[in-house]
Amino acid sequence: MITYENVAKIFGSGPEAVTAIKNISFEIEKGNLVIFLGPSGCGKTTLLRLTNRLITLTRGTITVNGQDVMKADPVKLRQSMGYAIQQIGLFPNKTIADNISTVPRLLGWDRKKIQERVGELLAMVQLEPAAFRDRFPAELSGGQQQRIGVARCLAANPDILLMDEPFGAIDPINREEIQNEFLRLQRKLKKTIAFVTHDIHEAIKMGDKIAIFQDGNLVQYDKPEIILAQPKNQYIADFVGADRALKVLGLLRVEEVMDRNPSNVVDGKTSANEALKFLEDKGFRHLVVLRGGKAVGYIHPRQLKYETSPVQDLAIAYPVRVDEDMALRDVISFMLMHDMRVLAVMDGDGNFAGTVTYDQIQKRILEMYAGEDEKKPAKDQE
Ligand SMILES: Nc1ncnc2c1ncn2[C@@H]1O[C@H](COP(=O)(O)OP(=O)(O)OP(=O)(O)O)[C@@H](O)[C@H]1O
Ligand SMILES: [Mg+2]
Repeated sequence: MITYENVAKIFGSGPEAVTAIKNISFEIEKGNLVIFLGPSGCGKTTLLRLTNRLITLTRGTITVNGQDVMKADPVKLRQSMGYAIQQIGLFPNKTIADNISTVPRLLGWDRKKIQERVGELLAMVQLEPAAFRDRFPAELSGGQQQRIGVARCLAANPDILLMDEPFGAIDPINREEIQNEFLRLQRKLKKTIAFVTHDIHEAIKMGDKIAIFQDGNLVQYDKPEIILAQPKNQYIADFVGADRALKVLGLLRVEEVMDRNPSNVVDGKTSANEALKFLEDKGFRHLVVLRGGKAVGYIHPRQLKYETSPVQDLAIAYPVRVDEDMALRDVISFMLMHDMRVLAVMDGDGNFAGTVTYDQIQKRILEMYAGEDEKKPAKDQE
């Protein structure tokens, strides 16, 4: 855990003094990945450097796992935390392997263990160990160097990671893969992480919580979905973007809004005229056709008129497969592409699990933006 209590940092003194951090209090819980977000110059890097005491606090207290950093041994403190610096900062005259193993060597790990660790970390950042181990930083692209910076920060397996725009120089495709790999690792290792980024998408994807700064102040500190749904002021709303409802949809899953017991369902063997009667009696606009627990498709009244065959022969197959853990953003995208307002949802075995509707999704968004209890289950629609 990291706690910041009335933290202030002023660089220099007199008329040239720069107040980089004004008065910040918050805490990063153990095992959480917290994003530091904000425009250039708002104090993100300064806060990281105060945390591992590369620079000295002006006022306030920072504690790391209960220890006041200003009372800790600065060398030990720094070795106990991984730090990926914004400028990457590899040692140019050392090989990649030596760069990565800087802290393990200081800690006296044996050669074999270091070798193994270097291989493991290179693989994690998606660089072929045999090809990169013995090169020098100048022989790597900027994005590759940055990945080495991330590997170095993880090398001695510290509990606390301070990462300053660690993926900023990596192209979108590799970045996505490294983010995913990093998240997989984080789910397992549960490090306590302060992670700086300029990228709101990265923030939403990676952060357990997001801290948004402005001019040395902490403006909002919340879970990503709360930041998106209830930005505290116009500054935050502008920062997260006009498409914040779409961004929220990237965080919400089908299982959170779906109807698990829709009543507009019909067995495939039902005859068309029976199905039509059922549809008209209930006032449904369409029916989901099931056979052996699976959704074979859907039917509209106009397909049933003058027909007598079983509905399973008339059903139109769903154009896409929707799973319970799919992001609502993807579902909405399917709905727009295929001009559909309802899709069938499948469980892990491919069986019909319920339906997801455009109206349910919209209702959920409206609830969130009205600031209502976000855990309230969505009600049936159709
Ligand atoms: N050593 C220093 N001496 C004087 N001023 C400094 C020093 N380091 C940072 N500052 C100032 O403190 C403020 C915050 O800087 P900081 O590097 O923390 O910003 P940042 O949020 O990390 O920005 P960026 O997104 O551009 O990396 C800036 O106004 C910067 O000019
Ligand atoms: Mg910075």
